[in-house]
Amino acid sequence: MTENTYNIRVMRDEDYAQVHKLWKQISGFAMRTLDDSEEGVLRFIHRNPTTSIVAEMDGEIIGTILAGHDGRQASFYHVCVRKDKRNMGIGTAMVTAAMRALNEEHVNKITLVAFRKNEVGNRFWRHVGWKQREDVNVYEFILNEKNISTFNDEVYAPSNTSEK
Ligand SMILES: CC(C)(COP(=O)(O)OP(=O)(O)OC[C@H]1O[C@@H](n2cnc3c(N)ncnc32)[C@H](O)[C@@H]1OP(=O)(O)O)[C@@H](O)C(=O)NCCC(=O)NCCS
Repeated sequence: MTENTYNIRVMRDEDYAQVHKLWKQISGFAMRTLDDSEEGVLRFIHRNPTTSIVAEMDGEIIGTILAGHDGRQASFYHVCVRKDKRNMGIGTAMVTAAMRALNEEHVNKITLVAFRKNEVGNRFWRHVGWKQREDVNVYEFILNEKNISTFNDEVYAPSNTSEK
């Protein structure tokens, strides 16, 4: 492959080590002990075998989207591009690929959570035409306290985190 030529494809089991290594480098990401373990990620992609996406360049994974659905609507998690490969359209290409895959699954809507302080992330979602909801509150209930979040950089306090 020539420099900056990339390939977009579906995430596979054997990508886990590289994908996890990339996630650990992304400023603002929260990593969860159970959800982001190999077992957790493989469980997710086995439930959604066609919709999670990686971008590869020179044989290395440089971008990811974990995308899955419950039969009604879909969610994106861990959307990222390695810092030195941003602003080349790779994020947009991955989003397009994941949206197409979900469309083929007859899913009508995708949601994601972006922390308000994540300027790069929020600008990106507006750039790719996503609509910010102003009329809802997000609720959660923790079912397993062992699923502990750790943050990739100390600069990001939990309320500063860019991605859930
Ligand atoms: C958000 C993120 C995935 C975007 O990835 P990316 O590959 O840089 O995305 P793109 O290149 O498709 O688009 C980014 C910007 O580059 C611009 N761009 C796209 N192609 C370009 C090109 N060929 N030349 C110059 N600029 C380009 C786009 O216009 C876009 O502008 P924006 O600032 O209005 O969004 C990346 O910034 C990232 O990993 N951020 C950290 C993690 C994160 O915050 N994730 C989102 C969590 S909600």
